[in-house]
Amino acid sequence: MQQKIEVVIMAAGEGTRMHSALPKVLHKAAGRSLVEWVAEAARAVTEKPVLVYGNGGEQLRETLGEAFRYVYQAERLGTGHAVLTAQEEIRNSDYTIVLAGDMPLIRPETIARLAEETRKSGCDCMLLTACPEKTPPYGRIVRDAAGRICGIVEDKDATSEQKKIKELNFSFYCFKTSALLRALAQLTPDNAQHEYYLTDCVGILYRAGGDVRSIQIEDMRECVGVNTRVQLAEAEAALRARINEKLMLAGVTMIDPAATYIGPEVEIGEDTVIYPGVILEGKCRIGRGSTLYQGSRLVGCTIGDATTVENSVLLQAEVGDHTQIGPNAYLRPGTRIGSHCRIGDFVETKNAVIGDGTKVSHLTYVGDAELGEDINIGCCSLTSTARKRTRRS
Ligand code: UD1
Ligand code: CA
Repeated sequence: MQQKIEVVIMAAGEGTRMHSALPKVLHKAAGRSLVEWVAEAARAVTEKPVLVYGNGGEQLRETLGEAFRYVYQAERLGTGHAVLTAQEEIRNSDYTIVLAGDMPLIRPETIARLAEETRKSGCDCMLLTACPEKTPPYGRIVRDAAGRICGIVEDKDATSEQKKIKELNFSFYCFKTSALLRALAQLTPDNAQHEYYLTDCVGILYRAGGDVRSIQIEDMRECVGVNTRVQLAEAEAALRARINEKLMLAGVTMIDPAATYIGPEVEIGEDTVIYPGVILEGKCRIGRGSTLYQGSRLVGCTIGDATTVENSVLLQAEVGDHTQIGPNAYLRPGTRIGSHCRIGDFVETKNAVIGDGTKVSHLTYVGDAELGEDINIGCCSLTSTARKRTRRS
């Protein structure tokens, strides 16, 4: 029988170190908010993750919409309390995966593996752990004489002996829901931070004879947590590298991938070449064999094959094949340019349909206009609510 898995994403933290009016998990990295990256990974096992939020709830719900089920944690009493707040949402599930909203690099494959290994082993709790060379102040995994996991001790509560433990907790858990709910009911805030720690569930389960296991995180890059803007930039670079690598392996040339900014929903055809400083946002679709030269920003655009764009801004515009855009063109929403066209320097278009073979070479504004095929618009022209259907040939 198919077993039911719920995912709880904890995101009620204050995020004070971001020094921002925006809730931390709404900060964007590589074109998507931190929590949307986590949710994207969670979708490997669930349709709608449960989001535990605190301050800034209105803003969160407005921005994220129907993608989540929301639970409000009025008082921020710790990670255990956060999950307890969501108990009604998980009660009818077999397994509950708990993730932190500020760890955007976790991949869907990893979540799927965590769920699969937990189900296969039948254990009460499975943790994703690793022993990185540098030990950040994370929870340490404590094992008994037989090597079984018997607890997690927070850095602030650890003895100097425990601080030497190399195996760390990264806040990626899969629990048998019944065991989780039993353990949560027994949490106390009896620790250095006077919080209800989710991590204490591990010791509680062990002492009750439960089975807690771990699997190793294979790629340490998945463990970047965002608490500051420095870490936000690190996460951005890592996510961007992931997007760019996938595109390059599928046939896109990037002259300098580290300086190429492509969002997660962009599609690009084979043999297209992208120069440094290009920004592609939203649902852009770029054809084959096109060239995007330096400094172009495209938002939600469709570009055909063998087209070039140079140092231009294109917003919700459509461009055909074998067309040249720029340098320094500004194509605003509602622009539809045909094939074999040329839109040259300092040309601005808005709500403009421009037919195949038409050239608007420089210093022109084309707004609310429909131009036919093979027209040549001279320098310094201005159209507004125009209909030109002249054909040269
Ligand atoms: C937590 C783990 C620690 C682990 C580390 C990895 C606990 C007690 N400790 O520590 O073992 O090494 O993550 O990053 O869980 N949150 C809420 N409500 C709360 C408190 C926190 O939603 O009341 C959310 C935060 O927004 C954040 C996540 O839970 O997304 C983790 O909380 P945080 O306070 O950052 O825990 P850490 O001290 O980092
Ligand atoms: Ca944290």
